[in-house]
Amino acid sequence: MILIDSHTHLYLEEFTSDIAEVVQRAVLSDVKRFIVPNIDSSTIEPMLNFCRKFPDISYPTIGLHPESVKLNFQEEIIIIKKWIEKEKFVAIGEIGIDLYWDKTFFNEQVEAFENQLLLAIEYDLPVIIHSRNALNEIIHIINDKKYKGLKGVFHCFPGSLEQAKYLAQKGFLLGIGGVVTYKNSGLAKIVNEIPLQNILLETDSPYLPPVPYRGKRNESAYILNIANFIAGLKGCSLEEVANITSANAIELFKLPTSNS
Ligand code: NI
Repeated sequence: MILIDSHTHLYLEEFTSDIAEVVQRAVLSDVKRFIVPNIDSSTIEPMLNFCRKFPDISYPTIGLHPESVKLNFQEEIIIIKKWIEKEKFVAIGEIGIDLYWDKTFFNEQVEAFENQLLLAIEYDLPVIIHSRNALNEIIHIINDKKYKGLKGVFHCFPGSLEQAKYLAQKGFLLGIGGVVTYKNSGLAKIVNEIPLQNILLETDSPYLPPVPYRGKRNESAYILNIANFIAGLKGCSLEEVANITSANAIELFKLPTSNS
C-alpha cells in the first residue's frame, strides 16, 4: 500500500529542526510520495533543497500563491517562467484567488491566476488551485475556452456538494485533508457523495491537522489518519482508499509508478 500527500509544505521553517524524522514518520505510515507546492519566489530555493534532499519521493511544483500576489506580481511570474525552463516541476501551483483576508489585490490575483493557467496549458502541466471565498469566480475563469484541456486539483476543497459534483464531472480532482475530520465543516457529507476516483489526499502541512491533532503542527504522516477516516465514511477498506487516491495522484502529476 502506498499513500500520497498531494499537498505538503515540508520545506517551511516549522520543519527545519526535525525534517528527517518527519519524513521518516510519513514513510513508516506508508506515505511515500510528497507533492510539494510552491508559494512565491522566496520559497523556491527552500522547496528545491527539500526535494533534492529527498529525491524520488518528493516532487516540487511552481507557481505564485494568491496571498503572495501584490502589485509586483508580473516580476514574480517572470521568475516562475525562468524556473520552468531549467527545473522539472510536476504542476503549476499553488495558484488561485483568496478573498478571505484581503481583497485589495483582487484584480491582480485574477490576472496572476489567468497568466499561470496559460502557463499550465503551454507546458502541459496540471494546476493546484487554492480558493478561499472565490470558488464561483474561479469556476467562471477556468470555463473559458482558452483553458480547454486544463487538468488539476482543487486543493483543500472549499465548496458545496453541488460545486463538488460539477467539478468532478468536469474531470477535476478534489484535495481532501484534515478538514474532513472536523465535525462542523460539512466536508464529510460531500466526500461521501464523491467517488474516490475524484479525490486526492493532502495534509497542507504544517496547517490544518486532522482530529486528534488540531492546534498542533500538521505533518504528512497524518495522511494515514485522513485515509482511515474516509474509509470509515465510505465503508470501504483503507487499501481501497490508498490504491485509488494514489493512482489518481500518479496519473495527474505523471509520477513514476513504483510500489516502494
Ligand atoms: Ni498550501
